[in-house]
Amino acid sequence: MDQQHQDLWSAVVALKESSRWVEELGGVIDAVEAHFRAEEALFDKYQIPNVITHRTEHKRFLATLRKKHSELSAKHEAKEDLSAELDDVVKSSTKWLKIHANAYDEPQYGTFFKDGEYIGK
Ligand SMILES: [Fe+2]
Ligand SMILES: [Fe+2]
Repeated sequence: MDQQHQDLWSAVVALKESSRWVEELGGVIDAVEAHFRAEEALFDKYQIPNVITHRTEHKRFLATLRKKHSELSAKHEAKEDLSAELDDVVKSSTKWLKIHANAYDEPQYGTFFKDGEYIGK
């Protein structure tokens, strides 16, 4: 999971270097979704408690990203300048990922695993 967090982070930051970032944002959103699915599978497998808000946070972030993506795709079609928007997407997404990992991932299941092994509640 730590590796996935790092990969997601890098993928978001890498958008800055891309000339096709609006299109690539779709791939990043898919990767975020896959990560959340993997995390939620662990919740179920190890019956980790109190994960309702955690799941809601995942859902809300995905919904925000998807909405942003479709808005930006429309603007992109209309050939608007999106450089400020790119900055905004990268900043807000990395900020969310950091806050979420610290507030939810780490305290909720980080303590149940060590070096990728389940060590119990
Ligand atoms: Fe999470
Ligand atoms: Fe996570």
